[in-house]
Amino acid sequence: MRAWLATAYGSPEVLSLRQLPAPRPGAGEVLVAVRAIGLNFADCAARLGVYPNVPRPPFVPGMEVSGEVTALGEGVLAPAVGTPVAAVPIFGGHAELVRVAATHVRPLPTGMGFVEGAAMGVTGLTADHALYTVGRVRPGERVVITAAAGGVGTMAVQLAAGAGARVVGVASTEGKRRLAKELGAAEVYGYDQYRAAVQAGVDVVMDSVGGALFRPGWRALRPDGRYVLFGFAAAMGARRVRWLHAAVELLRMGVVLPQALVAPCRTLAGFNLSLVPHLAGELQERFARLEQLWAAGRLRPVVGEILPFAELPHAHALLQGRQSVGKVVVTLGE
Ligand SMILES: NC(=O)c1ccc[n+]([C@@H]2O[C@H](COP(=O)([O-])OP(=O)(O)OC[C@H]3O[C@@H](n4cnc5c(N)ncnc54)[C@H](OP(=O)(O)O)[C@@H]3O)[C@@H](O)[C@H]2O)c1
Repeated sequence: MRAWLATAYGSPEVLSLRQLPAPRPGAGEVLVAVRAIGLNFADCAARLGVYPNVPRPPFVPGMEVSGEVTALGEGVLAPAVGTPVAAVPIFGGHAELVRVAATHVRPLPTGMGFVEGAAMGVTGLTADHALYTVGRVRPGERVVITAAAGGVGTMAVQLAAGAGARVVGVASTEGKRRLAKELGAAEVYGYDQYRAAVQAGVDVVMDSVGGALFRPGWRALRPDGRYVLFGFAAAMGARRVRWLHAAVELLRMGVVLPQALVAPCRTLAGFNLSLVPHLAGELQERFARLEQLWAAGRLRPVVGEILPFAELPHAHALLQGRQSVGKVVVTLGE
């Protein structure tokens, strides 16, 4: 099979298209013939060697795919061979074939194609977890979403606005802010207007950027306010991790004293969805809820760019370089 191998940790050029032996599914796994790859920021982090539990190079990155089941490992009865599925292997998905834990595979709903199927899982589940499980968003609350026009952001804006929250979308360009507004954001701001954005008070901040944004958002939380931190995009350069800049951004986040949470009734919470494996069963249920919203026309994965397999490193460059909107999807086959 063909696969994009990360030959070292580094910029998109470390990805090299190679012929590798076809993998075989182990016990509890299924083998998926990949038809579309949904790119996640985590794939850039894995390539750069800064994602949790990332293998040593050479390795095949690739968190999320859609495709068809071609074989079942020992103990796996479903989904049947031939079933179109969405799958989250975490690593290994930048390839024609990937083995995935059966718990991380889900049949595509009727009517959903491979491109959409590769674009909804990680972003939808992350947005859902941040907004509802951790952020406990209620109708009428003012919810700030940073990187609002990205993969997770576009799902979060739709989910929060659809649930009756007043969404404040933050994004870097006019085009991105327009998209956030189209998806349901009541107000949109650039990062240079961030203080003005949060000044009126905020119930929930859903932040994947971090750094200098943290303190103004944290201070603007209303009583019972919740700050949900689930990424640190501020550390990223267009091609590499900007270590010095990352250190400065980290310092700008300051220190939160536990006692400072009590009287103002504030919550600070963080998560990485890939590190809570005991959630697997529950995630299937939550994904079913997202599919229902999709089927009802109330949630759509925004796919900003579709590229062929041969251009996968360019897809990485677009995402890391902040040039993508919604999801970047890479397709294989016809
Ligand atoms: N903890 C978890 O379980 C989990 C799961 C999924 C994703 N995430 C995090 O959620 C975020 C969104 O993931 P995604 O895959 O949907 O990516 P994405 O939002 O499509 O792309 C990242 C976005 O971050 C913003 N950004 C701000 N500063 C940046 C910088 N210095 N370099 C690059 N981008 C910067 C950019 O939007 P603007 O140009 O508008 O600023 C960019 O488009 C990422 O930070 C990711 O690590 C966390």
